[in-house]
Amino acid sequence: MVSDVIDRDDRFRGILDRLATKSIDDYYNPYRLFEWPDRLPEDMWWMSPELTTTYGTEWAEKLTPQQLRTLSKHESINFYSLNVHGIRELLIEVVGRIHTAGFETPSEFFHHFIGEENEHMWFFAEFCLRYGGKIYRQPAGAEATASSAKIQSLLVFARILIFEELVDHFNSAMAEDERLHETIRGINRIHHQDESRHIAFGRELVDLLHQDLLQTATEQELADISGYLRRYLKHSFDSLYHPQVYRDAGLERPHELRRALLDSPARAEAELRTFRKTTRYLERTGLIR
Ligand SMILES: [Fe+2]
Ligand SMILES: [Fe+2]
Repeated sequence: MVSDVIDRDDRFRGILDRLATKSIDDYYNPYRLFEWPDRLPEDMWWMSPELTTTYGTEWAEKLTPQQLRTLSKHESINFYSLNVHGIRELLIEVVGRIHTAGFETPSEFFHHFIGEENEHMWFFAEFCLRYGGKIYRQPAGAEATASSAKIQSLLVFARILIFEELVDHFNSAMAEDERLHETIRGINRIHHQDESRHIAFGRELVDLLHQDLLQTATEQELADISGYLRRYLKHSFDSLYHPQVYRDAGLERPHELRRALLDSPARAEAELRTFRKTTRYLERTGLIR
């Protein structure tokens, strides 16, 4: 058993070293990197239409092309707002653990992670404030009550991983989408580049924390973790549907619209698509049953 743990730890150290080296090699100055035109064209897509919340629903047929583009603008501001709030929350958790007992091995990597996330939060906030005039507020997150510090840490890093994989699904598609303005594509491209490292790290760390917990956890605790992660996946996806976005896009009865879109078959399909890789990972590791 002990040799298992050492082997796993060696593997983890090797991965951390590679990721840290890559962080150093890919290092950029975010404050110089992007072009920020005074305004972005209103008659363009701001988010790939396939990623917007009306895609595949009757509203995609009923709204005019310009209404759909306007909606994509507000949905994109909401998407980057979600990033701002998600990053703030994950930074609090990682800063709370760096150089503390149990996190000696990943602390060096945490320095890169914290630095990069601070920069991501800056360029996402800059985009929202510059082109949307605001950062959308988010309803309170799906808070977890954990019966031990070990479970708490596992849930924290699993949440971070789920959040990063959700965002990355959007980033990787939008980086390549020629219908979008270069400023939008650039932000998505750079974020995808950094997040590939964070996701690789997160998958290793979550697996290690889980393996460690399996030595002592009760059946009930493991079932609770699985239930919580399923709720968190759904909660994260729901946050893409924001009533204020529909109101800002000039659509009527925004709360009713949100409810109808959340209940639509297109939403279920989009959620499956978005979390395909994440769900496969969580099932393979046994984190969700
Ligand atoms: Fe990020
Ligand atoms: Fe990240």
